[in-house]
Amino acid sequence: MRDRVLLDSNLILDYLLGRQQVNPFWEALPLYLIQHQIPFCLAAHQIASIEYVFIREAKRLGLWEKPQAKQLWLCFFNKATILKTPAKFDREHPLAKRDIEDYQIHLAAESAEGLIITRDLEFARLSGRCLTPEAFLFATKTKTSTSVPFYDLKTSHFEFHSELEVTFDRTLNSGWFILGNEVSQFEQEFAEYCESQYCIGVGNGLEALALILRGYGIGAGDEVIVPTHTFIATWLAVSQVGATPVPVEPDEHTYNLNPALIESAITPKTKAIMVVHLYGQPADLDAINAVAKKYHLKVIEDAAQAHGARYKSRRVGSLGDAAGFSFYPAKNLGAFGDGGAIVTNDSKLANTVKLLRNYGSQVKYSNIRLYMYD
Ligand SMILES: Cc1ncc(COP(=O)(O)O)c(C=O)c1O
Repeated sequence: MRDRVLLDSNLILDYLLGRQQVNPFWEALPLYLIQHQIPFCLAAHQIASIEYVFIREAKRLGLWEKPQAKQLWLCFFNKATILKTPAKFDREHPLAKRDIEDYQIHLAAESAEGLIITRDLEFARLSGRCLTPEAFLFATKTKTSTSVPFYDLKTSHFEFHSELEVTFDRTLNSGWFILGNEVSQFEQEFAEYCESQYCIGVGNGLEALALILRGYGIGAGDEVIVPTHTFIATWLAVSQVGATPVPVEPDEHTYNLNPALIESAITPKTKAIMVVHLYGQPADLDAINAVAKKYHLKVIEDAAQAHGARYKSRRVGSLGDAAGFSFYPAKNLGAFGDGGAIVTNDSKLANTVKLLRNYGSQVKYSNIRLYMYD
């Protein structure tokens, strides 16, 4: 079962207070989740009310004096993932009319696309998002799947959801959604990460590659060496600026551009070699840079699939003249939407693409008409 699982407060109190109910599953369920390392969640608003009732009841039952009681709660609390309780509130919702706390658990589950485990059948009926402990345990224990699931973006984002929430709030409240401080800060950090001097955020990976070509003044009548084996965007960047992509076959062991085949593809029109680090595996840049140097060509890394990869201890993005990264959601570093960046140590190119990404403008409404590197 891959759903996010929220626990109803009563179930947690059964466990903390050792309340033997009619059905032993009720007390055993949180323990089962902990022992089997099944992640579970609490909605933020539950914390205070559970703690309040637990302390009150534990004192009443004479459990509070035992150090294990506090330990049990802390241990349980530390294992839970805390989900936000949404501010949205519909007073007319049947659950809100019956029990506000349950309604808020329902809202938290709804916003996280999660399931609630509860022994309260009326809560289950009104929410429509609930399972009983018995049904949950049955589903978990009888799960037999031999299929390998596709990469699930929701799961990987969920790991950072509370940090993301803070960032979303900050961005939303700032009212600044294009460039601005958030992007500048990212550019600085990503340049450092890539062991390069400059990073310029752009709309996506294709745009990053095309802007590098434009920044170097490559266009109609020019040729750019590209690998035959790559994602279409590598070629599209070249044709988008009016230049001609000239394909070169890959090395059959690495799937990356074969340096030994580049020289025979070079003509007087060749201006650059577009190297792709496919599947996160860096291309053989020493050999490629040597050919480029011989023919005075620019080396442009298409690093869309290789954030963080190293070639002979150097980071991808710092190996040629400039690199284009993609932050398409499924990439090593995925955005919530489209995103891309140019990374380079070439200050002249950095200044040029910074203008090009923003209508040739450095200062608002002052547009310098600048299309070429020189
Ligand atoms: C090798 C390669 N180059 C370029 C791109 C283009 O990136 P984007 O989708 O951000 O435009 C991709 C994206 O899939 C890619 O895999």
